[in-house]
Amino acid sequence: MIDLELIKKIAEEAKAEFNKVDSFEKVEDFRIKFLGRKGIVSNLFEQFKEVSKEQKALIGKELNLLKKNLEDQLKLLQKKYPKVKTKEVVEDLTLPGLKPRLGAKHIITQTLNEIKDIFKSFGFVIAEGPEVESDYYNFTALNFPDDHPARDMQDTFFISKDLLLRTHTSPVQIRYMESHTPPVRIIAPGRVFRNEAVSARSHCIFHQVEGLFVDYNVTFAELKGTLSTFAKIFYGKDIAIRFRPSFFPFTEPSAEMDVCCVLCKGKGCRLCKYSGWLEILGCGMVDPNVFRFVNYDPELYTGYAFGMGIERIAMLKYGIDDIRIFYENDIRFLKQFVSL
Ligand code: DAH
Repeated sequence: MIDLELIKKIAEEAKAEFNKVDSFEKVEDFRIKFLGRKGIVSNLFEQFKEVSKEQKALIGKELNLLKKNLEDQLKLLQKKYPKVKTKEVVEDLTLPGLKPRLGAKHIITQTLNEIKDIFKSFGFVIAEGPEVESDYYNFTALNFPDDHPARDMQDTFFISKDLLLRTHTSPVQIRYMESHTPPVRIIAPGRVFRNEAVSARSHCIFHQVEGLFVDYNVTFAELKGTLSTFAKIFYGKDIAIRFRPSFFPFTEPSAEMDVCCVLCKGKGCRLCKYSGWLEILGCGMVDPNVFRFVNYDPELYTGYAFGMGIERIAMLKYGIDDIRIFYENDIRFLKQFVSL
């Protein structure tokens, strides 16, 4: 028969079981045993019908309390050991996998590496110089007259009267010759800076590769031979090239090299301004004044030098019409060069 003693015993038993629960399955066992449809509590309520009238109020109260306590304990347990959801979606193992997106070298780095490799195969070695230069290396020793317009504030980022951000990689020529004796055969890749408004055609930061070859009896014919071979390897062996007379303070004579327009193949279009040709580099025979600045004897040595802009070369090779896109990190642009 149900009485207060029995209710107390069951409460103690539940307490002991409560402490032993340590998984979702055991929570279920607890629920079924005490609060299930045929569980202990429902059985007690069944027996309650037979309790005498005098006892009903007291036993009923205790019974309800027991039920309430057990339900609270169950809630606690269910919170502590929730049902672990099993995945209902069955994976389709026959679906093709998702390819991870590959990173790649920037197109400027790739172009630079290609140019470096070509000149390395000709026997040139890599030289480097600082991006923060002195006025002396950037201009004076390269035979720029004091009043040359390139020294103007509009072109050059000056840091102080004598310090500036190099406007070209040509100063590396001077630094290298100062510390080496001929023969010299170097290329100097690097970043350069110009105080110019950024537009589709020009940027205030870009890259150049400088070249310098000094030895006995170096001739303009060798300059032409080396640079035209470079163009044929870089643009393809059928590319037409030409040299035009030009002027640079550090070379005499000076020239610019053009390649046949890659877009219209020489017929004339917007890219080549209807000339059929695209200028890709400046070059010339090292001016004897430059040799005097580095204590090379201009009676003994001759040499040639050249300089090219990497962004420009890449733009012409791949038909890119806005220099700013190189620096925008637009993945749609960059990923076109992943497999090159
Ligand atoms: N330094 C020149 C520039 O930035 C490029 C150049 C032209 C370099 C002729 C040379 C050269 O070495 O011989 O425009």
